[in-house]
Order: sequence, then C-alpha cells, then structure tokens
Amino acid sequence: MKLSSANINVMVKVCRKAGKVLVRDFGEIENLQVSLKGPGDFVTASDKKVEKIIIEELEKARPNYSILSEEIGEIKKDEEFKWIIDPIDGTANFLHGIPHFAISIGLEHNKEIISGIIYDPIKDEMFLAEKGNGSYLNNQRMRVSSRSKLNDCIIFTGGPKYKADNREIALKEYNKFSAQVSIPIRKLGSAALDMAYVAAGRCDGFWQRNLNYWDIAAGIILVKESGGFVTDFSGRNDYIKNETVLAANSKINKEMIEILK
Ligand code: IPD
Ligand code: CA
Ligand code: CA
Repeated sequence: MKLSSANINVMVKVCRKAGKVLVRDFGEIENLQVSLKGPGDFVTASDKKVEKIIIEELEKARPNYSILSEEIGEIKKDEEFKWIIDPIDGTANFLHGIPHFAISIGLEHNKEIISGIIYDPIKDEMFLAEKGNGSYLNNQRMRVSSRSKLNDCIIFTGGPKYKADNREIALKEYNKFSAQVSIPIRKLGSAALDMAYVAAGRCDGFWQRNLNYWDIAAGIILVKESGGFVTDFSGRNDYIKNETVLAANSKINKEMIEILK
C-alpha cells in the first residue's frame, strides 16, 4: 500500500480483519439460500457482528474519535475526528449470494472527509485515499477516466428505494438519462463500490438520490483524490442535506448535471 499514515494503517488493518469474517459468512449464505428460513436473519446478524468488530478495533486504536455507523448510529466523543462507517454496503447482494459488496469507512476531520477506504473482501480489492496524497487500488495509483462523450461512457446509478417519497422523480431522472447514452445504465447494488469504480476509472459517472452519509463518505474522498468531481444534482456541495450525489470525471460532470436538473 502506498499510503501509510497512522490512520490509514488503522483503517487497512480493521478492514482486513472484518473482511475475513464477511468472506466466511458469505460462504454460509449459499447453504442458507436453500433452507426454508432463508438467510435474512443470518445476514442481519452478520451485519451487526461486522460492525461490532470494526468499531471495537477503531476504538482500540483511536479511543477519542467519534463514530457514525449505519446500524448503531452515533457514538459522540471528541468532535474533531469522526469515523463514518457502513459495515456492509450492498446488503441485498450479500443476502442473495451475489459477490459484490464492501466495507466502507470514511474519516472526518473538523467535518471534512480526509481519508477513506472501501474494501471489497471477495475480490480482495482495497480502494484507499487520503487528502492531498492521492488514491490507490491496492498498490496502484488510481485516476478517474478521461472519456468526454457521454455516449462512450459507462454510467452507474442505484435505487430508487421502493418506499422513497421521490421515487417518481428518480424514475424520471433515470429515463431522461437513458435517452442520452448508448450504453445501458448499470445498477450494481453497492453505492460505495459504484463510487470506488468511478475513482478507479472503471465507470465514468454515478448518480443517486436518497443515499445516506455512510454510503458515500469514503467514496467522496476516493473520487476527489482520483481527480473527479463530487457534487449534488445542482453542482453544489450539499450532497448530504439534499440527499443527491453525483460523482464523475471532470469532463462529463457538467453534462450530467444538465440532465439531472
Ligand atoms: C445500499 C446500497 C445500494 C443503494 C442503496 C443503499 P446498504 O446500502 O448502497 O447500492 O442503492 O440506496 O442503501 O443498505 O446495502 O448498506
Ligand atoms: Ca449502504
Ligand atoms: Ca449497510
């Protein structure tokens, strides 16, 4: 790994440990898939178990940092540093035995994300970034793609959630977008990995409504440190308040905003 600050080392260690447990649990899913009860309860328990491991390890290394984590919510300590955790992003994939999910951990310093890690334990792919020091996939430096014609691009999105208030709007946005691109829009089912893939240049742009901070915290710094742009749908930085996020290479970002406006 090319990034080696003390906090990055902590994040890498935590992800490796929790990732082993996730891989082991994922191996159980196949058996449960065919059982009468199904894997639902097992997955819920696995989510909580992985979150517990992540939090225990982070607290051991950084006892004073605050925490925001999907399942347990906020643990308030010093305000200066805060971990933002999604123990499994892509739970529906995990539940159905689809090997595409990740652990996502972002680190805030004075309310700004300064580092992030997204770890896909099945493919053993670790996406890492630190403010000012670039972004890496395992040992390789990452860059966003350089495609400038939307027609040549691969675009990802996710949702809309079934019960989301603005499901209609989200479907309209999807249709508007589909009309502009020749390659069908992908929905891979993990917003964290969607953003990691933008950062790695595998996909050119990603947009989604109704995401939570833990889905995107690590992805934000990954995309930025790879030279991409992260905004809300109106091109501003209010992605958390507005619950809309758009991550893309710098060449198609404006065009994407135009479509979503
Ligand atoms: C979900 C995934 C999915 C996105 C949903 C998220 P979860 O997170 O990121 O791709 O479409 O909006 O809630 O529930 O798997 O942690
Ligand atoms: Ca999530
Ligand atoms: Ca989750």
